[in-house]
Amino acid sequence: MFNHQPGIIPALDVDIEQAKAIAESVKDLKREIAGLKIGSILCWQYSLRKVVKELKEVCDFPLIFDAQKAGTDIPDMVRKQAKVVADAGIDAFIAAPQGAGSATLTAFVDACNVHQLLPIVVLEMTHPESSAFLVDDAADRILEQSLELDVKHFVAPANRPERLSAVKRIAEERAKRIRILSPGVGPQGGGPDRAVEAGADFIIVGRALYQAEEPEEEVKRIYKLISRSRSGTILY
Ligand code: XMP
Repeated sequence: MFNHQPGIIPALDVDIEQAKAIAESVKDLKREIAGLKIGSILCWQYSLRKVVKELKEVCDFPLIFDAQKAGTDIPDMVRKQAKVVADAGIDAFIAAPQGAGSATLTAFVDACNVHQLLPIVVLEMTHPESSAFLVDDAADRILEQSLELDVKHFVAPANRPERLSAVKRIAEERAKRIRILSPGVGPQGGGPDRAVEAGADFIIVGRALYQAEEPEEEVKRIYKLISRSRSGTILY
């Protein structure tokens, strides 16, 4: 999954007709688009199964489910969440274990492996005060445990490039090769090219893309920026 980097992941926080229209408009941009992110807005309105089915009729990109946020419950529930998500046809599942603890994180990764989902772990969020209720080193602790569990994909903020570099450095020090998916560009202030320079592999883009008059052109514009920052070769 996600063979070429850098790449763009549209966040489809829209209704199903618009989601399908965006998927249709970018379906041939195989180099630029790494996958599509389905979130709570689509899933709550239409059900995950229906959304997956309809998007798969339009395109063959990997589908990432970001429940905004999953993986925050007791371990047993998180295992059930992974099964439901896998049964719906999703390829990769994002968890945010902040507030849930290590048993939940372990259960999430294990259940993803059981159900052939790619586990993706949120390290920290993009918006101001997002860590207000957390211990100062929450992100580093989540990263350390995830690396021990052999998680290879993480969400970290594009609008805090110094954190992207720090995350990549910590992983390298432990001889781990990871990939970072970064939201927080456009309205949240991050620059896609700066994020990729700092260590992001994939840029998650919501409003900047689905509010654009021509999402396809916006994808091409962003891709031009990020592909100049790093060559889009298969790294591993
Ligand atoms: P925008 O419209 O700001 O939305 O481009 C970005 C998408 O990414 C999600 N998002 C986040 N997800 N950690 C996450 O795991 C974050 O810090 C974060 N910030 C934004 C958001 O839900 C939307 O789908």
